[in-house]
Amino acid sequence: MKVLVTGAKGQVGEAVARLLDGHQVTAHDRASLDLEKPDDIRWCVRDAHPDVIVNAAAYTAVDRAEAEEDRARAVNAIAPGILAEEAKRAGALLIHYSTDYVFDGELDRPYLETDATRPLSAYGRTKLEGERAVAAAGGRHLILRTSWVYAPRGRNFMLTMLRFAAERDELRVVDDQRGAPTSADQLARATVALLDAARETSGIYHATASGVTTWFGFAGAIFEARRRKLGEAFRIPALVPIATADYPTPAKRPRNSVLSNAKLENVFGVRLGDWREALDEALSALPG
Ligand SMILES: NC(=O)c1ccc[n+]([C@@H]2O[C@H](COP(=O)([O-])OP(=O)(O)OC[C@H]3O[C@@H](n4cnc5c(N)ncnc54)[C@H](OP(=O)(O)O)[C@@H]3O)[C@@H](O)[C@H]2O)c1
Repeated sequence: MKVLVTGAKGQVGEAVARLLDGHQVTAHDRASLDLEKPDDIRWCVRDAHPDVIVNAAAYTAVDRAEAEEDRARAVNAIAPGILAEEAKRAGALLIHYSTDYVFDGELDRPYLETDATRPLSAYGRTKLEGERAVAAAGGRHLILRTSWVYAPRGRNFMLTMLRFAAERDELRVVDDQRGAPTSADQLARATVALLDAARETSGIYHATASGVTTWFGFAGAIFEARRRKLGEAFRIPALVPIATADYPTPAKRPRNSVLSNAKLENVFGVRLGDWREALDEALSALPG
């Protein structure tokens, strides 16, 4: 299969491009395809004649998006719409990623694909617009909403916590936002499994790791796993649970980010696996 991947230097894009063994992959990073340039997107897809487009590029700076909503919209909403039009024209399947941040987090159970959306942030708004643009193009598409993505590379919570652990004696971490940390490799493996499975079925699917924690719980698990691997050589800082209200950020985040993955499992038989096992796998890929 010919697969065009965007965002190939991001966490998920890198993992997808790496795991697409046996396929003919054209991988674009921002330097070779800037999603803020609509004509370049059209040209690029027409040149590649793909069977599948995996759009892993996104404007993911959640707090910065509050001040740069138009730029976020260009990448997260307008570009996916163009990719979807071009995918339809090429008869290709578009796999596009979205986010738990399309919800307001006020429900006290895992979110279903059919639950009402109400983004709290500019990032969430632009990602929701992206979902709608992809669906409106009318071609074959899968929108995979995921959450709390991390990898042994890139910008993410896991690497930030490890950096802070080396610099600080005490860390204050938010303990009243719940979600499922999802490794880029877990999501990439699911994506690869869907290439064959998803020929006819369009729609939105939740695709996160199983299990639930808070940012505080995630930080603790990262440090415990690192200690198991490195022993006393890894110094665990004191962890202090705090409320969201004690850590104000420009963008508001949902209190409950937990997504139900039942639809993905029932329709395609695809599960991403437990978040703790994937954390061990991601940590073992780090040097030292
Ligand atoms: N990260 C999370 O916690 C999270 C949570 C839920 C959903 N998601 C979704 O999952 C998907 C993958 O995210 P990720 O975690 O892999 O994000 P990431 O690591 O930030 O990667 C996104 C990639 O997109 C690229 N990009 C940004 N603007 C671009 C442009 N104008 N043209 C071309 N490329 C551009 C970035 O390049 P630069 O590095 O040059 O900026 C980066 O390589 C996204 O759809 C995201 O919204 C992520």
